[in-house]
Amino acid sequence: MDELLRINNLKTHFFTKKGVVPAVDGVSISVPQSSVIGVVGESGCGKSMTAMSIMQLVQKPGRIIDGSIELEGEDLLKYSGDNMRNIRGNKISMIFQEPMTALNPVYTVGRQVTEAIRIHHHDIDKEEAKKMALDIFNAVGIPEPDRRFNSYPHQLSGGLRQRVMIGMAMVCNPRLMIADEPTTALDVTIEAQILFLMKKLQEERGTSILLITHNLGVVAEICDYVYVMYAGKVMEQANTFELFKNTSHQYTEGLMKSIPKITAEKERLYNIKGVVPNLMKLPKGCRFCPRCEKAMPRCFMEEPPLYKVKTVVENAGEHYARCFLCESSEVMNDD
Ligand SMILES: Nc1ncnc2c1ncn2[C@@H]1O[C@H](COP(=O)(O)OP(=O)(O)OP(=O)(O)O)[C@@H](O)[C@H]1O
Ligand SMILES: [Mg+2]
Repeated sequence: MDELLRINNLKTHFFTKKGVVPAVDGVSISVPQSSVIGVVGESGCGKSMTAMSIMQLVQKPGRIIDGSIELEGEDLLKYSGDNMRNIRGNKISMIFQEPMTALNPVYTVGRQVTEAIRIHHHDIDKEEAKKMALDIFNAVGIPEPDRRFNSYPHQLSGGLRQRVMIGMAMVCNPRLMIADEPTTALDVTIEAQILFLMKKLQEERGTSILLITHNLGVVAEICDYVYVMYAGKVMEQANTFELFKNTSHQYTEGLMKSIPKITAEKERLYNIKGVVPNLMKLPKGCRFCPRCEKAMPRCFMEEPPLYKVKTVVENAGEHYARCFLCESSEVMNDD
């Protein structure tokens, strides 16, 4: 499969007065053309900083200190200023969790989408841009687009605002759409609709999506392949079916158990014991071991590498897990 984005050994650290915070600590992610890739993990694991690194929007005292980010074979890290702004406007767009912060409250959503269109297509006039905006409103499933066109952001529901944001992100027909917790603020029915909409856009337009979420249930809905992040590192990565069928890391196992299930009795929520460690004081060895139910003495001493796991799902591609328990069954690369 052709690769669209390749992140190799990315390190984004924050240099604070109290010490260095390794928010992203050697992460490698591949996004094939026309795919939906999930990045999942608890709060503070480095998901957003990975996304911000791709966009080169990391703020001081944060800095990308190592690694490469290639889009269609071109290293984005050698770009700066205008060139990167160009990439952000044309090839990659990003959707944030709370659209209220990304939309301007004093302009109608119609005006904001129309302006976004005119920034990308200099040669079209206002009338044409309005027609395109209404087409986009239709494409993202906004009912009564003519009426909504003149609404201000605060007059729309959370779900409709998120649809406007997705519409804005589509204006430039990006190759890659990064969606950082796009449905966290929405209720489950609206969440399902928005996920379905993103999947539809990916299928119809061939846009790849990097979907960031703390919820493995969301990943299961639309992702082809998933990266599970913990304290700045990828702990497990696999095809979505494979990840659910052949969970190989205890952290992923914990996230699986935390997916809300409504049972006949009452809703029971599992929580992984303990908390994400302070990144400035990471434990020696495996960073998950203080919370791991299967930790062995070795796990407190050495950091495990990513082992290649034998897959159980056919055509699942490669499956890796950063756990010593996978060492004995490791599949060796033939290449
Ligand atoms: N300005 C900053 N100064 C110091 N550390 C920071 C700063 N911004 C982020 N970090 C650190 O980077 C780590 C990763 O943050 P990030 O926002 O990527 O987490 P996340 O996985 O997106 O979490 P969430 O699910 O809460 O959005 C955090 O643990 C935080 O401590
Ligand atoms: Mg985040």
